[in-house]
Amino acid sequence: MDEVAFLLRPKRDGWVIDGTVGMGGHAEAMLERSGPGVRVLGLDVDPEALRRAGTRLARFGDRARLARASFRHLRGAAQTQGVVEAQAILLDLGVSSYQLQESGRGFSFQADEPLDMRLDPAGPATAAALVNGLPEPELARLLHEYGDEPHARRIARAIVRRRPLGTTGDLVAAVRSAVPRAAWPRRLHVATRTFQALRMAVNDEPAALAEALAQAPDLLAEGGRLGVIAFHSGEDRIVKQTFRRLGSAGFAEVEPSPLTPGDDEVRANPRARSAKLRVLERLP
Ligand SMILES: C[S@@+](CC[C@H](N)C(=O)[O-])C[C@H]1O[C@@H](n2cnc3c(N)ncnc32)[C@H](O)[C@@H]1O
Repeated sequence: MDEVAFLLRPKRDGWVIDGTVGMGGHAEAMLERSGPGVRVLGLDVDPEALRRAGTRLARFGDRARLARASFRHLRGAAQTQGVVEAQAILLDLGVSSYQLQESGRGFSFQADEPLDMRLDPAGPATAAALVNGLPEPELARLLHEYGDEPHARRIARAIVRRRPLGTTGDLVAAVRSAVPRAAWPRRLHVATRTFQALRMAVNDEPAALAEALAQAPDLLAEGGRLGVIAFHSGEDRIVKQTFRRLGSAGFAEVEPSPLTPGDDEVRANPRARSAKLRVLERLP
């Protein structure tokens, strides 16, 4: 939070676009630490997240504006709100703690909930549709590619054998049955990677990120900054490669290597452990 608020603080009055406003924590920090001429446009695909962010940011009046939109349509969403350029753009990828713990949409392996995993409740495909409908090799590829899951093939086989799966409990049971106990990861739940992979596939997350990164740099004002927090190596790679390419096109990376949370932050918020923040600046 501190690093984001510090590195993305606007140098001039204008708009900050928070493409993943979630509970509004980062948006609040940006608004608190800047003058009255700085406004935040917060986007999210989850209406409940927007409702919560709205409550949190109400005290800022018209300095905070919220809209339901995917960051894959960043340019259009900004234009609709009359935002033609941004002093800063933030993408804090993945799920919020509310979605994980309270939404009842099956993001967590710790509760028994319907296998949904859609961040946008109106999204086209649920996790149940994928686990029950995809051919086994396709499932294995997805678990390997999006989850870095070393036992992808075994897990895919167990899922196919146990179809139809209806709940997160069914999915956890399939993963447990597929991976020999001696091979369970020591620091992670055995189903962590499977859940991450399915969530990324259900929400088409890598493609949405690539589309946002194709639009965000052109929206930046001179001296404006784009910050992306990724929690997955594949997504961080997309950010890294895009930022490197833009390095010869009028942009520069603010830090030579990504920022990661310190020990204190990880202790306070273990979900931050895999976060990587990269920041790009539009040169004058
Ligand atoms: C890690 S949370 C953000 C937390 C936020 N920075 C805060 O301080 O509360 C990620 C948020 O991004 C949203 N999200 C994920 N993919 C999105 C997309 N393509 N477009 C817009 N929002 C998205 C999720 O619904 C979730 O609320």
